[in-house]
Amino acid sequence: MSQNERKKIIFSGIQPTGVFTLGNYLGAIKNWRELQDDYNCIFSVVDLHAITVRQDSAELRKRILDSVALLLACGIDPEKSILFVQSQNPAHAELSWVLSCYTQFGELSRMTQFKDKSAKHADNINAGLFTYPVLMAADILLYKTDMVPVGIDQKQHLELARNIAERFNNIYGNVFTVPEPYIPKVSAKIMSLSDPTKKMSKSDDNQNAYITLLDDKDTIIRKFKRAVTDSDTTVCYKEGKDGINNLMSIYSAVSGKSFSEIEKEFEGKGYGDFKLAVGECVADNLAPIREEFIKLSSDKAYLTEICKNGAEMAQRFSKRTLEKVYHKVGFAKF
Ligand code: TRP
Repeated sequence: MSQNERKKIIFSGIQPTGVFTLGNYLGAIKNWRELQDDYNCIFSVVDLHAITVRQDSAELRKRILDSVALLLACGIDPEKSILFVQSQNPAHAELSWVLSCYTQFGELSRMTQFKDKSAKHADNINAGLFTYPVLMAADILLYKTDMVPVGIDQKQHLELARNIAERFNNIYGNVFTVPEPYIPKVSAKIMSLSDPTKKMSKSDDNQNAYITLLDDKDTIIRKFKRAVTDSDTTVCYKEGKDGINNLMSIYSAVSGKSFSEIEKEFEGKGYGDFKLAVGECVADNLAPIREEFIKLSSDKAYLTEICKNGAEMAQRFSKRTLEKVYHKVGFAKF
């Protein structure tokens, strides 16, 4: 076995439902970039998941390619990792069907994201929204994934994937690797700028609630100026100061400064100075990503090539798992 094959396998996915936010970047993509040297990483733009909520076709098509370009701009390296668009490997949909027959209605009914999303999209509580976690289990299990970097909001889905894998293995022997959550050493959970008790989300109706990776400097500074804080005046990390705590987490993640260094830096200064500093630091951090994105997105031929190669590699990688599953459940092969 070569050195390469002994590295652990990491899988993660991101939905192409909008331009990635600062929250996506600091909470996930930045970590992905750093994992690439030590693991065999597989990263997917999960378009199959995206249609559980109604999308505009032309817009979705554009966002998928933009998502690939943004991941590349953030430093996901197709020489090191497999980067592909989920729908371009049919094995995901195929395994998902099989796994759905090994998942109970009751289990899916308990998923908190399903409950939240069906409340938010009450006019379109479709079966795909309900079986979303099964597709996610298929994503992970197809590649013999050892570890999945996920935020707290996806932990319940990962737990379900583990249960499905164990259940299947109990019936058919050792087919699936049971994945573990990957908890990064430093992980930043970035909250909404307009409601710091909520996660920063690219599908928020209020554009001032999030910073996208493509916002220009003026927009970034303006959004930080408007960020919701509190009626106190000192910049310090303290329970109950959700807005300031969030801005401190952001500033710390982009500048590398510790909370106590930040508190010292802004001693005797007001929230206005602090917000401006956070805005400038974030804007400077994101500028190279934005420039790289603009360069990449004008090169459609290159992006198409990356997507084609990535899909081919993903197909090759997952083929064995799917064949094994089909054989175990008793499908005939001709
Ligand atoms: N459900 C994840 C999210 O919304 C995205 C996702 C889909 C995913 N498949 C995955 C994440 C597999 C990790 C592994 O954030």
